[in-house]
Amino acid sequence: MRLDKFLAESGLFSRSEAGRAVRAGRVAVGGEVVKNPSVHIPEDAEVFCDGQRVYWTKYQYIMLNKPVGVVSATEDGGRTVMDLLPPSCKRLDMFPCGRLDIDTTGLLLITNDGPGAHMWLSPKRHVTKTYRFTCVPALSEQGIAQLETGVDLGEFISAPAKLQMDAGNLSGTISITEGKFHQIKRMFHGVGSEITSLERIAFGPLTLDPALERGEWRYLTEAEITALQALLK
Ligand code: URA
Repeated sequence: MRLDKFLAESGLFSRSEAGRAVRAGRVAVGGEVVKNPSVHIPEDAEVFCDGQRVYWTKYQYIMLNKPVGVVSATEDGGRTVMDLLPPSCKRLDMFPCGRLDIDTTGLLLITNDGPGAHMWLSPKRHVTKTYRFTCVPALSEQGIAQLETGVDLGEFISAPAKLQMDAGNLSGTISITEGKFHQIKRMFHGVGSEITSLERIAFGPLTLDPALERGEWRYLTEAEITALQALLK
């Protein structure tokens, strides 16, 4: 692929900035400074820009710890999760894989892997999503049993959820395989309780990195990407 495309798709620059950086002699390929942005290089070429190694990958994957008050969308009248990420993410057409409500926090995968996202979100794949919740009033034993068997939400009955309750039944974790609009809030409402906070702590094989403060993000590790891709097999 062309060197300027390699640099732009690595997320470092826009295509025109990449051309300027190359012409300015800031980029080396295989140890040699290259000043021609249209030169063709292999996808695994050893490229350095300003002395830093630059890697090209087909897709990028980011874990964000979503804070309250931002919308899980690429565009919206208000602040979106994309505003928390570097400009390269918009340039690379990255988008949130699934949605969390504006007042839900925690693990959100941001990627430009359209085919992957489509599969991970497909209801047929049953990818497990785990949330830490607080609720009021405390869940009754009957309510817990109902959540674990299925709640009638009008247009459908939720699939059985898995719950781990803290003492007092005012908080715990819930794992579901579906992802309908306000799903957990509606399930709790259906059994006579209301969610007062919701944090996603796992999405399939990904678990929320405790080192990430709310609003912080990091790239997925190779092991995390491999585990996500294993879900597609
Ligand atoms: N269920 C909800 O009700 N809200 C979310 O944000 C996620 C799951």
